[in-house]
Amino acid sequence: MDPILEIKNLCIDFKTNRGIIRACDDVTVNFNRGDIIGIIGESGSGKTTLASGILKTVRAPGRIASGEILYHTPNGETIDLLKLSEHEYAKHRWTNITTVFQAAQNVLNPTLKIKEHFIETAMAHDTDKKFTKKQILEKAAMLLSQVRLEERILNSYPHQLSGGMKQRTIIALSLLLEPDMIILDEPTTALDVITQWYIIDILRKIHEETGITMIFMTHDVSIIGSVVDRIGVMYCGQMVEYGKVEDVFLKPSHSYTYGLMNAVPSLKDDITKRKAIAGYPPNLLELPKGCRFGPRCFLSKEGLCQSEEINITDMVDVGNEQLTLCPHWKKVKEQCH
Ligand SMILES: Nc1ncnc2c1ncn2[C@@H]1O[C@H](COP(=O)(O)OP(=O)(O)OP(=O)(O)O)[C@@H](O)[C@H]1O
Ligand SMILES: [Mg+2]
Repeated sequence: MDPILEIKNLCIDFKTNRGIIRACDDVTVNFNRGDIIGIIGESGSGKTTLASGILKTVRAPGRIASGEILYHTPNGETIDLLKLSEHEYAKHRWTNITTVFQAAQNVLNPTLKIKEHFIETAMAHDTDKKFTKKQILEKAAMLLSQVRLEERILNSYPHQLSGGMKQRTIIALSLLLEPDMIILDEPTTALDVITQWYIIDILRKIHEETGITMIFMTHDVSIIGSVVDRIGVMYCGQMVEYGKVEDVFLKPSHSYTYGLMNAVPSLKDDITKRKAIAGYPPNLLELPKGCRFGPRCFLSKEGLCQSEEINITDMVDVGNEQLTLCPHWKKVKEQCH
């Protein structure tokens, strides 16, 4: 175990007209250096909120209510990201921790050529002024080739590029200062399926070549299943399961994960055998007692968690570093054999 991030009891709230929503609720999880990690869950489960906690971009009406995010730098320092001021965090943004998100294409300034984006980013964030302009452009050309774009697009304006090309440009830009970790929040969602797979393949290759830690947030299980090492599953703001991808996919220990896996269509399988999870996630202002997934859980007919007024908050290790929030995980696993 070589953790790059240790997230401890992270709580992030949003103030709404009807009350306070805890969109990230007591999340405790470690991410290993060099892994590709996928965070999955339905819309509203808290994936973006968790990403914005790590990136320290939670803005009003949101606020980080409590927790720690320990970042182990490549130099062996340990920093609690949540204790850093904006100014201190800025030193890590782009250089150590970077992000690509769904609407990232809009961050390209329409009045600047692509090469100017690379130069401005390097000048603004490379505080040691290590690079000359010539070196920046050489590095930009190398990164563009990694994302399978031609060097000549350095002289293009953003509007001259397709959506997929813009997203690949952003990925190249985000890698400019050789960060340690990249957070990708739905990086391919706005793109067509073929372009999605193309970009995932590019990211997989970049990971192979650089060993960068990648954290993907997505609601699309099928798109990341083949590339991630570990998977975290979020439901109603909680991390309900975390483990190695083969365990989580093939031997899930939480019935929500089990439901998600059964809901994923595959070209090989009979589509009529796929089953959507019954019902909808509850309103975060009116959470059910006991397990939050209880009302939708196939085990709940046995009345396991609904009658008990238990507050399920701590994950248990079921073996092989597979963590689950479900106290009845053995019953879930029995369903998978
Ligand atoms: N600015 C905000 N104001 C109020 N509530 C918010 C805000 N941002 C997020 N939330 C609430 O926090 C919860 C988690 O939202 P979040 O965007 O993190 O989910 P998500 O898993 O990323 O969903 P999606 O798959 O749709 O991107 C939701 O209930 C959402 O309504
Ligand atoms: Mg989101």
